[in-house]
Amino acid sequence: MKLLVTGGLGFIGTNFIRYWWERYPQDHITNLDKITYAANPQNLKSLESSPNYTFIQGDILDADLVNKLVSQVDLIVHFAAESHVDRSIDDPLMFVKTNVLGTYTLLKAALINKTRFHHISTDEVYGTVDPNTTEEFSETTSFDPTSPYAASKASSDHFVLSFFKTFGLPITITNCSNNYGPYQNPEKLIPRLITNLVNNSKIPVYGKGENIRDWLYVTDHCRAIEAVVMKGIIGETYCIGGLKESCQNIDIVKKIINLMGKSEDLIEYVADRPAHDNYRVSWKKINETLGWEPKESLETGLKKTIDWYLANTQWWQASKAEAEEFYKKLNNFQANTK
Ligand code: NAD
Ligand code: DAU
Repeated sequence: MKLLVTGGLGFIGTNFIRYWWERYPQDHITNLDKITYAANPQNLKSLESSPNYTFIQGDILDADLVNKLVSQVDLIVHFAAESHVDRSIDDPLMFVKTNVLGTYTLLKAALINKTRFHHISTDEVYGTVDPNTTEEFSETTSFDPTSPYAASKASSDHFVLSFFKTFGLPITITNCSNNYGPYQNPEKLIPRLITNLVNNSKIPVYGKGENIRDWLYVTDHCRAIEAVVMKGIIGETYCIGGLKESCQNIDIVKKIINLMGKSEDLIEYVADRPAHDNYRVSWKKINETLGWEPKESLETGLKKTIDWYLANTQWWQASKAEAEEFYKKLNNFQANTK
């Protein structure tokens, strides 16, 4: 099979390409990535000498390039996106461009070539669960996005589904909860915590730390994508979530502090994120129809992740500095617009 993976130098895209590479060495992977601040060109350098891997630096909004690449493959796995909620509060337009128009550009090319299209989406399209209940998002939950990021992903999901319903394009969609693991940009909670703790810096916890997330180790997400790509029903959506062992942000913060042998005195409660959601996802459908379930426990997944960041300080140092610069700017912006 020939695959076009978009955003393959980002966090999940890198893990997915590595996962696929090991299991399907006969397949050819083309990785189209713009190399934004979120990408690291070193992630897959070791694959570049292989005839079965091609890296193309380019934008999913570039219709000519996208048409050419799509015409050469059997399957598109679409990860490329602006992915950070806090950055969508700072600059929503980039999210409209990449997540909505970029996805549309890929869909048009897929339609011309009748190419199978798998869209990677998020649980954030569903809005928020009530954390005081056992409510979970599922495939039938209505969309109710709150952040500009979530709104742009919800819009892209609607476009993907509309191309199936209107034009018969063979699509599938996965809506996954929070991933963690190696290669995640230190702007996101878990790698920000780990890298701050390495530096003995304060741990900023938004609000009271009571918001809930449904953590999933990134390889489990890759396995779920594989299941849907291989066995999923065309036109369908599959929700993916974790084992829900530790859901409140403050629990995960304390767990990581403990695993790294640091002091809870480093916790600093800071201003809350506007429209701060809570997420919990049911994975009943993908479990019952495709046999997928999460395998990695939070304990082992966090240990692996911490070890990876400790062993790869060079990998994250530049992006860490960039991320903390971004947060400084965002904090000033929020303070001045109060
Ligand atoms: P990321 O920010 O780490 O990586 C995004 C990648 O896309 C980067 O390599 C970037 O260079 C590339 N990119 C951005 N704009 C592009 C453009 N215009 N053209 C080509 N490439 C471009 O993101 P991630 O965390 O790996 O998320 C990947 C996908 O998974 C996203 O669609 C995101 O919405 C979805 N998702 C993420 C999570 C999570 O917890 N991280 C959970 C569920 C779904
Ligand atoms: O749910 C899936 C989504 O998970 C993906 O679609 C997004 O691409 C991904 O970024 C992630 O979104 P979140 O907003 O949940 O991730 P983030 O790591 O930014 O924040 C996780 C939680 O931790 C959230 O409740 C906010 C909080 N937080 C975050 C940071 C960076 C803090 O308390 N302190 C922090 O410094």
